[in-house]
Amino acid sequence: MCGIVGYVGGQQAAPMLTEGLARLEHRGYDSAGIAVIGSGLRVVKRAGRVKDLLEAMPKRISGRTGIGHTRWATHGPASDVNAHPHTDASGKVAVVHNGILDNAATLRRRLEDAGVELVSDTDTEVIAHLVGRSGAETLEGKVVDMLAAVEGTYGLAVVHADFPDRIVVARNGSPLLIGVGEKEMFVASDLAALVRHTTTVAHLDDGELATITASGFTTFRGDLSRTETAAHLVDVDPSAYEYGATGAEPRMYTEMLEQPASVERTLRGRLDERFGTAHLGGLRMDARELRAVQRVKILGCGSAYYAGQMGAQLIEELARVPADAEAASEFRYRDAVIDPDTLYVAVSQSGETADTLLAVEEIRRKGGRAVGLVNVVGSAIARACDGGIYLHAGPETAVASTKAVTTMFVGFALLALQLGRVRDLSVADGKRLVAGLQQLPGQIEKVLADEDRLARVAATLSQAQSMFFVGRVRGYPVAREGAQKLKEISYRHAEAYQMSELKHGPLALISPEVPTVAIVPDDELTDRNVAALHEIAARGGPLVVVTHEDVDLGELSAERIDVPRNEKELDPLLLTIPLQLVAYHAAMNLGHDIDRPRNLAKSVTVE
Ligand code: F6R
Repeated sequence: MCGIVGYVGGQQAAPMLTEGLARLEHRGYDSAGIAVIGSGLRVVKRAGRVKDLLEAMPKRISGRTGIGHTRWATHGPASDVNAHPHTDASGKVAVVHNGILDNAATLRRRLEDAGVELVSDTDTEVIAHLVGRSGAETLEGKVVDMLAAVEGTYGLAVVHADFPDRIVVARNGSPLLIGVGEKEMFVASDLAALVRHTTTVAHLDDGELATITASGFTTFRGDLSRTETAAHLVDVDPSAYEYGATGAEPRMYTEMLEQPASVERTLRGRLDERFGTAHLGGLRMDARELRAVQRVKILGCGSAYYAGQMGAQLIEELARVPADAEAASEFRYRDAVIDPDTLYVAVSQSGETADTLLAVEEIRRKGGRAVGLVNVVGSAIARACDGGIYLHAGPETAVASTKAVTTMFVGFALLALQLGRVRDLSVADGKRLVAGLQQLPGQIEKVLADEDRLARVAATLSQAQSMFFVGRVRGYPVAREGAQKLKEISYRHAEAYQMSELKHGPLALISPEVPTVAIVPDDELTDRNVAALHEIAARGGPLVVVTHEDVDLGELSAERIDVPRNEKELDPLLLTIPLQLVAYHAAMNLGHDIDRPRNLAKSVTVE
């Protein structure tokens, strides 16, 4: 979604800003712009891509302080005028903003009544006018005055032609990082825009502001009292972010192929072969606390939610603790009863998803314990939780999530193992699962090696306008994730259904034009599943069956995709991978832009 960059230092700001914006492109956006302070304030902004902005850029746009933005439209369509930065009536103030102001309509009316002419449809423009109209003498004072009037979420950065040495930033619910360089400083909403320059970073907290100059930064609260937020070295490999900016293959493809390595990283140092368990120090829960957990409730959105459903199944099977997953976006609106004996688990790649973050805040407000299963280190959700498990998937920049989903599954398997082993899971079963987890990277390689065949299956499927993905129990969240991937990037309609529910309604839609992708692992439900496949075939529905070698499909005519066997509890991970490849090749076959699916953004930071 929207992205912010800022630069103040000895170099020309404009190229630093546009380069930073290019590194945020993966988040999804529909317009981009920069504001630079030189001899005055210069703003360039365009609907479209960063390359459109570059084409619109005057040859010389000189200045060593500036801010930039990629916008994903919320208030008003994608247009040059609605693009950020927004300016005030004097043309001295420029603002970029992530988040949504709840009282924008009231503020717009108030400004219009005061004779201000608003030129855009955005909520952000009011910020620029409020800063410009403040009587405070310092830029910090002006920003604080403005913040007293606005309600909502924001990560924002402000520059002012009368204060050319600084950027003032503020955060409430939308991430902002300060990057520390040599006599130069950076601002960004995402580490990806900073790592090329620095990995020494300060994370602002909600309610915090900062002044950034070439020589350093200071942080403070809304009453201008100082805070002690310090910069620290983040443990990331900057080269891991490079392919995202330069690679020729779609990033989704590169990230799918990385899964053997990312799964290995999630497991590294966490398995205990001797006692058949996992060690998750980051949870900050001892054996007594783990034993006291009466229920597990997993919260996430989209694919993270489906990974959470796989996780709930694992936890019930291995730990025999009642567990379920719910979309965080629903949970947070239904005034949920928070139970002190329930362990709440927030699952998120970005650690920024607004609905998941707000669910965590609600749980904590009501006295519950929330832990995170998060990929981005130091992200808002990770910081809002009592403890957690970092996924170590490495940066994921494709909108369609792949390696994050599979590492989430592994994270849940580790949690289930540890919860199980402080309860009734035997050491023998624990060892069986540890050995199964260790085999996963090699087995993922094998599934990925079947790409050519999967591409052929995808080519046929991509011709259908509509299809079903079906599975039962362990297979159902796999079907949901498979349908989600296909929808997102191929724009074909794909509906996931429980195999058991087909005959209660959707069977009416089965026909030679509507194929079904069925998840049929070799487990205690195989016979039931094969019976359902016959019901589909009898109605002329084409079938693609993701299964294990030796599963007898009888006389069924079906495209068969076999995945390697592991312990049955771990099946969902290996069954998910072919569906990623099928979605990818279906979308490629249809000629879509894989990394920029229409209407979608990587991190959904709005509610
Ligand atoms: C699907 C996808 C989205 C995300 C969802 C949650 O491919 O990427 O459905 O899974 O928006 O995002 P995170 O995991 O960042 O909270």
